Amino acid sequence: VKCLNTIETILRRSVGTEPVVAHTEGAQGDDSGEKDGPKSLSELMADRQEQAEKSVLISCPSRTSEKKFLKFLSKHGDINKHFFYESYGVYAVVEFARRDSVVSLLESAAIPNVNHECMVPFKSRLLSLSNQSSAASPAQQPRLPCRPQTTIAINELIQRLSREDSVDDQMGALTEAYQLTEENSRLRFLVCSLLKDVAAAYFPECTIRPFGSSVNGFGKLGCDLDMFLDLDTISGWNFKPPKSGLSLEYQMKRTNSERHVTQSILSVIGECVDHFGPGCVGVQKILNARCPLVRFAHQPSGFQCDLTANNRVAMKSTELLYLYGELDPRVRRLVFTVRFWARAHGVTSSIPGAWITNFSLTVMILFFLQKRSPPIIPTLDRLRDLAGPADESVIEGTDCTFVSDFSKIQLQSNTDTLEQLLGDFFEFYATFPFSRMSINIRKGREQNKPEVAPLHIQNPFETSLNVSKNVNTSQLDRFVALCQESAWLLQQGEARTQRGSGGNCMDNPWGLATLLLPSKVAGIKGRKKYKKEGASERIKSLLESLKNKNEEPKR
Ligand code: CTP
Ligand code: MG
Repeated sequence: VKCLNTIETILRRSVGTEPVVAHTEGAQGDDSGEKDGPKSLSELMADRQEQAEKSVLISCPSRTSEKKFLKFLSKHGDINKHFFYESYGVYAVVEFARRDSVVSLLESAAIPNVNHECMVPFKSRLLSLSNQSSAASPAQQPRLPCRPQTTIAINELIQRLSREDSVDDQMGALTEAYQLTEENSRLRFLVCSLLKDVAAAYFPECTIRPFGSSVNGFGKLGCDLDMFLDLDTISGWNFKPPKSGLSLEYQMKRTNSERHVTQSILSVIGECVDHFGPGCVGVQKILNARCPLVRFAHQPSGFQCDLTANNRVAMKSTELLYLYGELDPRVRRLVFTVRFWARAHGVTSSIPGAWITNFSLTVMILFFLQKRSPPIIPTLDRLRDLAGPADESVIEGTDCTFVSDFSKIQLQSNTDTLEQLLGDFFEFYATFPFSRMSINIRKGREQNKPEVAPLHIQNPFETSLNVSKNVNTSQLDRFVALCQESAWLLQQGEARTQRGSGGNCMDNPWGLATLLLPSKVAGIKGRKKYKKEGASERIKSLLESLKNKNEEPKR
C-alpha cells in the first residue's frame, strides 16, 4: 500500500527532474552520428534510453486524425518523433523534445470513469486517447499510417528471395526483411522504460536495460524482449568510505547468497508488474531457474518479456555479439540466414527444451568465421589483449574484459563471398567432430570436451559452463543431417550461381530459397534415403564419413 502511495511521486521524479540531455536522432542502424565508425553498444543504448524516457505510448481510437492528434499533443511541447503501429488496436509512440512535456501531458490526463469496474490507481506513461479530442470527421475516412512490427510470412520470403540475382543478394534481402526496424527498437526501449517506472516503486534509482537479440544486432522482428534490472546504477553502491574518521553506512537486510537477493527482488517486482503494471499479462515468476526471471506478455507492444536481475555477464555477451556483428557486414547476414534456416526446420524453437538455441547457434557461426583462412573475425582472447584500462570488467570474479574501441581491431583481408561462407558453414558442421570436441570462441579453435554432453560450446566468459548443455543427441543429429542436406543442395546449385533463366521464379525457388523449403531429412533415417538419391563426390564422401562416425560407439 505504501508502495502504491509513493508511485506517483516516483513517476514524477523519474520523468521530471533529471537533467535534460541533448537528443541524438537515429541511434541504431544509422551511421550518420558525429563519431567516425560504428558506435559502441553502450553509446547506442544511452541514446535510445534517453529517447524512451521522453516518450509516451498512447492507445488511439481507429478514427483518429493524425493532424488533430499531433496538434493536441504539441500543446505540451515540441515532438521529436512519432509513429503508429497496430497491436490489439492502434497505438502511437510519441517522443517529446523535453521530459517536462511528459509531466505536463500526464498532469492533463484524467482517471477513467468506468461503471461496474474498479481501478488500481497506478498512473503510467501508457495512455488512452478519448475520441472527442482528435477524431477525424467521417468524410475524411482517416487511416493512420501504421509501421509494421511483424515479419513477412516464409512463403512470401521464398518468393522474394527467388527474384534476387545471387545467393549473396538473397542473404542481404533476408536480413533486410527480418531485422529490427528503427521503430521496433524504439518500442523495445520504451517498454523497458515503462517497466522501470513500475520497478522504481521499490528501487527509485534502478535502470531496466534490454539485452540479448533486442540489441545485439541479430534480433528479428517478433523476437522476445530480454530485460535486465540493473541496480548497480544506484548511487553509492560501489562507494568506499574513507578509512579514517566518521562515516555513515546504510542499514540493509542481509541474506546468505547473491542468488537469494536476486530471487527476492524479482519476486516483489513480479508481484508489482502483475498487480499494477498496465498492459502486463500472464505474469509468471520463474525464480528457481539457473538465471531467475519474471516472464510476461506486454500487450500494447505485443512483446513477450523476460525480466532478469543481476545478469551483467549476459549484458557483456550481448556487447560481444554486437561487436562481432559490426566488424564485418557478412557476419550479420550469415547469422540472420542461418538463424532463419534453423527456425524454418525446427532446429531452434520458441519453446524451451532440448533444441539448439539462437545464442548457441550464433556462437557456432562466430567460431566458424574465426576458423576461416584468413579469419574473418578475431578470437575473444585477441579482443581481450587489445583492451585498454577503461575496458576492464570483472564480474563476480569472471573476466569479461574485451576492447570496446572498434578502431583498434585490425581485420585480415578475407574475400569469401556469402554464398561460399553459407555452403562451407553447412559443410563445416556436417563434419565437425562433435563427439570429441568443444567449440571455443575465446581461443578460436576446438578443444577436447571437458565433460560429456552431445554438444559442447564453451561459454565465452563463464568458461566452465556449456552454453548448449540443454541439447540432446537427437537434436544434434538432426542439425548435422540438415547441414549435410543444405550443403548438398547448395552444391547442386553451384552450376548456376545465378538465378536460372526462363520459368517463373515463383514456381522455381533457387539458391537460399530452396534451403528454406520443407526438408527431406526427417530424422537420422532420412540421411540414408538422401544418400541414395545421388550426391556429388564431395558430399558423398562427406556422407560416408558421417555414417562411419555414427557407427562409432558413443562416449
Ligand atoms: N545468454 C548467455 N548464456 C546462455 C544463454 C543466453 O549468456 N546460455 C545471454 C546471451 O547474451 C543472449 C541473452 O542471454 O543473447 C538472451 O538469451 P536468449 O533470449 O536465449 O537469446 P537471444 O540472443 O536473445 O535470441 P532469441 O532471439 O532467440 O531470444
Ligand atoms: Mg532473447
